[in-house]
Amino acid sequence: MSEKNQEIILLPDEWATKKLGQKLANELTLNSVLLLSGNLGAGKTTLIQGLGEALGIKEAIVSPTFTLINEYLEGKIPLYHIDLYRLKSEQIKDLYLENYWQGIEVEEGITAIEWSELLPKFPSNYIKIKLEIDEKLGRKATIFRQINSSE
Ligand SMILES: Nc1ncnc2c1ncn2[C@@H]1O[C@H](COP(=O)(O)OP(=O)(O)O)[C@@H](O)[C@H]1O
Ligand SMILES: [Mg+2]
Repeated sequence: MSEKNQEIILLPDEWATKKLGQKLANELTLNSVLLLSGNLGAGKTTLIQGLGEALGIKEAIVSPTFTLINEYLEGKIPLYHIDLYRLKSEQIKDLYLENYWQGIEVEEGITAIEWSELLPKFPSNYIKIKLEIDEKLGRKATIFRQINSSE
């Protein structure tokens, strides 16, 4: 069984992007994955900062563009923040990112991935958010939920 939804949310300012991230904290449970896509400056990190705040993470959440993966363990649920910017498919495979959403050798938590369109293999369940600027609507988020209850 699979369930598909698409939802559009307007993001008039930075605060709206943060708030969307905060709201997702109610929905994301252990082992859930948040896939973010959108150009540089689209607001991917900002959204994850909102999520982190809502999880009670006090440490500043910064883009892991060079570190690839930042692990925040101080909130109610661990948050694994990954940035695949400019990585190649082969390099991404070598990171064994599925260990994060399968809770293998890490504490179970939420995995949030920037530039997730580069992932060679998607998890079976995820929330995908595309951030972009619409000519008419301005900044917006398109949210898509993939829920595959058979896995
Ligand atoms: N909805 C929005 N409207 C206006 N500015 C925003 C919005 N969301 C984020 N920003 C701003 O855009 C800039 C880049 O955001 P960032 O989250 O770093 O983007 P990304 O991680 O996608 O590269 C930041 O200065 C942020 O405050
Ligand atoms: Mg970023």
